[in-house]
Amino acid sequence: MEMLKQLLGWVDDRFPLTATWKQHLSEYYAPKNFNFWYFFGSLALLVLVLQLVTGIFLTIHYKPDASLNAAGVPVAFASVEYIMRDVDWGWLIRYLHATGASMFFVVVYLHMFRGMIYGSYQKPRELIWIFGCFIYVALMAEAFMGYLLPWGQMSFWGAQVIVNLFSAIPFVGEEIGIWIRGDYVISDATLNRFFAFHVAAVPLVLLGLVVMHLVALHEVGSNNPDGIEIKKKKDPETHIPLDGIPFHPYYTVKDILGVAVFLIVFSVIMFFTPEMGGYFLEANNFVPADPFKTPTHIAPLWYFTAFYSILRAVPPMFDSQFPGVIAMGMAIVVLFLLPWLDKSPVKSIRYRGPMYKWALTLFIVSFFILSYLGTLSTTSGRTLVAQICSVIYFAFFILMPWYTRMDKTKPEPERVTA
Ligand code: HEM
Repeated sequence: MEMLKQLLGWVDDRFPLTATWKQHLSEYYAPKNFNFWYFFGSLALLVLVLQLVTGIFLTIHYKPDASLNAAGVPVAFASVEYIMRDVDWGWLIRYLHATGASMFFVVVYLHMFRGMIYGSYQKPRELIWIFGCFIYVALMAEAFMGYLLPWGQMSFWGAQVIVNLFSAIPFVGEEIGIWIRGDYVISDATLNRFFAFHVAAVPLVLLGLVVMHLVALHEVGSNNPDGIEIKKKKDPETHIPLDGIPFHPYYTVKDILGVAVFLIVFSVIMFFTPEMGGYFLEANNFVPADPFKTPTHIAPLWYFTAFYSILRAVPPMFDSQFPGVIAMGMAIVVLFLLPWLDKSPVKSIRYRGPMYKWALTLFIVSFFILSYLGTLSTTSGRTLVAQICSVIYFAFFILMPWYTRMDKTKPEPERVTA
């Protein structure tokens, strides 16, 4: 024990180990009223690590090569099949990674929703939210490029559709499309660069953003379900917030419970229904990519379909899909603006009035409907519903400065209501 203490002292003289532990864990005071919704930040960290570890093991056996092997199957596709059938535990690693991608979005969407119900993006947490939005965009890029790698029919045609969206940009679109693909069509060149971005460039960006997200969080301190600042009421002697408890051990233990429950849910999905009825992995992606055979129905995976619906809801102009592309882009850009659109004097939904509650409910329902419609082919009726839901999606943001000012809010309590 004495030896360990001495060793720690030796390290501490050269590296702030104990100081960092204290600053970010044992003496980081978090509000004592965290609830269920506060599990998802640590779960997002868990899934991030899971994706990185399983991704490294997949990379050991995966080959980013679109040429055909002796059996006439693309090498990339065959290498994934090899992982699934011949590599020891390869099926587990691959399903953990592929299903893990969907779980990542489940966790992140719930995490973002928490931010919206408790107004966690409001002053002084704007930058936490902005870094979060960049994380979300990086995550989308990561998932999109990862999906090309198995080189199945959906990988190929999904990428074709999405890259073609860039080609819809007037004047420079064609060039941008070629620049992204590295070719006139999705090809081996595209597969190689997507591989490089998926395994190295984007994960590095993601990690950097997550660090900035957490540094910003620890600078201002966590929000909480009451949306009041615990730093305003401190013990006059210790200067510790009266409603704060040390993150470690209290929230490390709470988060372990979250991890246990999450892993049970994840395992049930993984072992019993890894494709989740086609929502997590599409049947058509178990067919090798064939540039000469366009699938009758092309749709992205569920976590993109709300935006895909918005894209399809906007009618083409002069035969160009560009207006839809703009709408889809704006649907994401507008998320960044949330901290400045919300003019409410209170943060948490607990003390907001009926207008915000209605607006948020309508927004979430439209998001679900858009997501569902995006998995289906279009009909005139479905397009109309998608148009109505797209209008609600944007109205939620555009009208926010108005209805959050008008709303009848309730007075916030002095102290958190644990
Ligand atoms: C890889 C993805 C992400 C990771 C690992 C991550 C991690 C975390 C962690 C560990 C926390 C503190 C624990 C908690 O409050 O739950 C947190 C808080 C927060 N995150 Fe994230 N996050 C991610 C993505 C996002 C995204 C996409 C957004 C929003 C666009 C976001 C917005 C926020 C906000 C506003 C808070 C403060 C919440 C509060 O104090 O009430 N995060 N994040």
